Formats: sequence, structure tokens, C-alpha cells
Amino acid sequence: MALTGCGLFVFVIGHLIGNLQVFGAPEAINTYAHFLQSKPLMIWGVRLGLLATVALHIASAVALSALNKEARPVGYAGASAYGSTVGSRYMLISGLVIAAFVVYHLAHFTALLPGINGVGDFTKLKTNLHGETVPDVYGMMVLGFQVWWVVLFYLVAQGLLFMHLGHGLASMFQSLGFRNPIWWPRVQCFAKSASIAIFIGYAIIPIGIFLNFGRFADYSSQKKLEMQAASVPGAAPAATAGKEAK
Ligand code: HEM
Repeated sequence: MALTGCGLFVFVIGHLIGNLQVFGAPEAINTYAHFLQSKPLMIWGVRLGLLATVALHIASAVALSALNKEARPVGYAGASAYGSTVGSRYMLISGLVIAAFVVYHLAHFTALLPGINGVGDFTKLKTNLHGETVPDVYGMMVLGFQVWWVVLFYLVAQGLLFMHLGHGLASMFQSLGFRNPIWWPRVQCFAKSASIAIFIGYAIIPIGIFLNFGRFADYSSQKKLEMQAASVPGAAPAATAGKEAK
């Protein structure tokens, strides 16, 4: 559980750093996404590794939960178990909702299913990057987070991720042998600070775009028109972007 959790934590940090580039120029995140997409072997290696890690993490969680129930078949007399936190009691539920969020998220931004984004067909979003027409990941994020219920769903998922990491990170170090008088206060401080920083980092993306910090609104209306034009059969290709929002 601890080792797979550690692997997923590393992914969550790396993914956050990559995504925060949306606050830079459109070319920044598009160059990064294009670099990843142009390395199919690497990206599929990471995807399969992630899938195996998530599967092992969920399997250990289910086994651990069964062991817990077996160790204490009769529930506590009080309303809440003494010494436990909300985060620790709802680890299984928060983890499963995060997994459900990731399924939606993959359909939203990786498989680009048009019916679930509340905007249109993201596969039609293209941009010009150093003379090459490539998927406009910046445009997709900017358009994707104009939709209030998408923003709300992402924020709920980030809230649950915050709760999950707050307890999970501390437990990970406990499983690895760091629960002692010297290390435990540091571990708890790290778990709290890291989960808060990750929450703020992820939440600021949908909120910042929705509330139009920066130049998102202009880019979004221009891209919406281009996407609609590209969806009409026989219309002129709209991959004129790249010079936008400069
Ligand atoms: C505001 C929050 C987030 C944003 C804006 C975001 C953005 C994105 C984007 C744009 C992609 C597609 C990349 C591409 O096709 O080039 C992606 C893929 C992905 N995201 Fe996120 N993400 C967020 C949160 C999360 C969280 C919290 C998790 C996991 C807990 C996550 C897991 C993934 C995974 C597994 C992929 C698939 C990577 C692949 O292509 O194999 N994301 N995300």
C-alpha cells in the first residue's frame, strides 16, 4: 500500500507541475504535451505502469479494509472511533471517488469524448506549433473549465484528494517505519503541508480559468468559434492559432 501510494504521489506532483504551465503562454503547455505525445513508447510505458500501480493500490486497500473488519467485528460504541480522523475513516470511499474522477478525467482530456465536456468536440482543437499542426491542449483546458459543473466536479475531486493524501502520506511513512518520537511530528507536518500545497496547486487551475485570471476569456471565445467552424463539414480548417493571445 505504502509503495504504490508513493508511486502515485510522485505522479500527482509531476502532473501538477506540468499542468501549472497553463498559466504561462499557450505554447508552454502545448510544447510540453506535444513532447509527451511524440514519445508513444514512453507514454504507454508510464500509462501501463500507472494502471498496474493503481490496481495494486486498490487491491491492497480492499484487503486492508477486510483485515480491519476481521480484527474488530463489533463496531465502536461511540459515534466515532477514538483517535481517528475523518480522513482516516473515509480512505476507501475517498479513494474510490478519486478513481471515478480519474475515469471521467481520462474521458474528458485524454480520450476527448465530446458528449461529456459540456462544450464540443475537443479533437477539433488544433494549434500551430513551430509550423506543425498539433492538438491544442491549452485551448482544451481553457474551454473545458468554462463549464461550471466541470469546475465543481474537479474541485470536489481535489478536495477528496486533499483528504486522502493528508492521511495517506502520513500512513505511508508509518508503514515505512518512521513512526517514532523524532520522525513522527515531521512526517505529520510534511503530510499536512504537501496535501494543502497539492490541493491549492490543482484547485487554482479550474478556478483561475473559470474566473479568468490572465487572458483565458479571449482565447476561449476565439477557440470556441474555431472548434465550431471545424465541426462543420466542408468548412475551412481553423488551425490558425499559435499567434493567439500573444
Ligand atoms: C485541475 C486538475 C487537473 C488538470 C487540469 C489535469 C489536466 C490533464 C490533461 C490536460 C491531461 C491530458 C494530457 C494530454 O493528453 O496531453 C491529463 C491526463 C491525465 N491526468 Fe490530469 N489533470 C488534473 C488532475 C488530475 C488528477 C488529480 C489526477 C490523478 C489523481 C490526474 C490524472 C491524470 C491521468 C492518469 C492522465 C492520463 C495521462 C496519459 O495521457 O496517460 N489528473 N490531465
